[in-house]
Amino acid sequence: MSDKISYARVKSDVESARTYNQRKQSKHTQEMAMIEDAMRHVRGIATLLDAPCGVGRASIALARMGLQVTGVDLGEAALELAESLAAEAKVPVRFERHDLFALPYADRAFDATLCFRLLHHFESPALRGRLLDELCRVSARYMLVSRISPLSVTSMRRRLRLLLTGKPIKQYSVSARELHAEMARNGFEPVAKSGRFALFHSLQLQVYSRK
Ligand SMILES: C[S@@+](CC[C@H](N)C(=O)[O-])C[C@H]1O[C@@H](n2cnc3c(N)ncnc32)[C@H](O)[C@@H]1O
Repeated sequence: MSDKISYARVKSDVESARTYNQRKQSKHTQEMAMIEDAMRHVRGIATLLDAPCGVGRASIALARMGLQVTGVDLGEAALELAESLAAEAKVPVRFERHDLFALPYADRAFDATLCFRLLHHFESPALRGRLLDELCRVSARYMLVSRISPLSVTSMRRRLRLLLTGKPIKQYSVSARELHAEMARNGFEPVAKSGRFALFHSLQLQVYSRK
């Protein structure tokens, strides 16, 4: 397992950005509902960093809630599509191209940060730790972080498949315990969780607040 940052999943090309925007509607609706549900536990904030923002679907939904949203991603094509979708939706979102491992923002620059559907791309706990350190650094009050549960049927099936066929796992699971420990190291404590029963639903969204 390498501790070197992989940029293999960055959506720099038009095709991958377009494909992501055409994500299955039922999945998209479910994921946006998960974010909306998590936001019920986030109170009194004005600014939010959506990192990574991809094609801006959460950024747009959160800006619609009246938040001042900054969406950050490394993928040029994803950001271009995000800009045009936000313009189409007539919601103001600031989109910027940065590497999440080295953000140019001051400590605690945003009230909250959402990190949705990225952590599972990294196998190395050290890399996950580095990513979370940087996101926590720029967050003053709340962190919302998604993870794939190791307890879901899908995660168990992936591990079994690896064992039986050697087919590599592409989405790495993280236990709530591991994530809580990383967040505690950064001064955050868990306040809520959004996501359906983990056995059948891999994706879980944890909400943390600064202690
Ligand atoms: C699965 S998408 C999720 C996007 C968004 N959160 C959503 O749910 O629609 C992951 C995104 O992470 C971006 N990404 C991967 N590594 C990155 C890095 N080091 N810095 C910034 N963005 C990165 C990719 O370009 C891609 O748009």
